[in-house]
Amino acid sequence: MTIAVQLRDLRKVYDGPPPVTALDGVSLDVPAGMIYGILGPNGAGKTTAIGICTTKVRATGGSASVAGLDVAQHPVGVRRHIGIASQAITLDRSCSVGDNLYYHCRYFALPLAECRRRTEELLQRFGIADRRDSMPAQLSGGLAQRVQLARAIAHRPTVLFLDEPTAGLDPQTRLALWELVDTLRNEGLTVVLTTHYMEEADRLCDRVAVVDHGRVLAEGTPAELKRDNGGTVVINAAFAGDRQAARAALEGLPGVTEVVETERGLRVLVSLDGGAVPRVVSRIAEHHLTDLTVAEPSLETVFIRLTGRDLRG
Ligand SMILES: Nc1ncnc2c1ncn2[C@@H]1O[C@H](COP(=O)(O)OP(=O)(O)OP(=O)(O)O)[C@@H](O)[C@H]1O
Ligand SMILES: [Mg+2]
Repeated sequence: MTIAVQLRDLRKVYDGPPPVTALDGVSLDVPAGMIYGILGPNGAGKTTAIGICTTKVRATGGSASVAGLDVAQHPVGVRRHIGIASQAITLDRSCSVGDNLYYHCRYFALPLAECRRRTEELLQRFGIADRRDSMPAQLSGGLAQRVQLARAIAHRPTVLFLDEPTAGLDPQTRLALWELVDTLRNEGLTVVLTTHYMEEADRLCDRVAVVDHGRVLAEGTPAELKRDNGGTVVINAAFAGDRQAARAALEGLPGVTEVVETERGLRVLVSLDGGAVPRVVSRIAEHHLTDLTVAEPSLETVFIRLTGRDLRG
């Protein structure tokens, strides 16, 4: 198996004051031809990791290689191999959609005729041919992101880095973008994307690294992550009455692995084995319940279990 991106004990401390440790020893391997998700909350270090891989940020320690090239030793070589699209729209605002693609090809020194041909091909393929003369400012967020994706692969990179590509997009636009990314992977491109959308990581990614505070907490396929983290069901309950009484009644019940207080009540982590969930739910119901949600094992429950926190804060 070829490894497209390899991080070894990667560290990044931003100079202060105060100094911030953004990456605290990250090691991971991204196999070629996969969609690899880096999943984590705000400030986890996702953009920093992408920044180092794409030669924008210099690591404080450890190493990163992309397409077999060390990013610190061969930054120019690495840049030839990579495509980048971030959440921010970085299209050239002074030229049209078509020209954004065309000049990107020129920048990468494709032959002139090839620049024209490639631009046309990408406009068709990404469904933006009718917008070739539009200026970036005239595009919706979803369309602009499409153009950025087209531009990111225009010079035929082997590894595509997407930093929160779907942040802020509506669900339908997000789905359409997932499909495009999926097709690119099927054509052999390696895709590394960061996200804090659990569903995105679950549906789109072949493998996922869950990161928090600059460390990898878990790594694997979405199915492995869900299985290895105990098939945990997360029950969130809100109470009108005394939550301490409910807490006392739940702690020690078979299958209950953890009870945490939340703003409105309790969060109860229950192991899926042995029919514990109905038992716990009926016990909770004895305590002036006002609201109850039960979340099945998902990357979200994996994350809560690993970090003790909700990804949304
Ligand atoms: N240029 C910088 N100078 C100083 N600190 C920085 C800089 N860039 C990032 N940081 C800090 O490093 C940590 C990691 O930031 P990073 O942007 O990599 O996280 P992230 O996972 O991409 O977060 P988000 O989901 O908000 O995009 C944060 O504490 C952030 O404040
Ligand atoms: Mg970021």
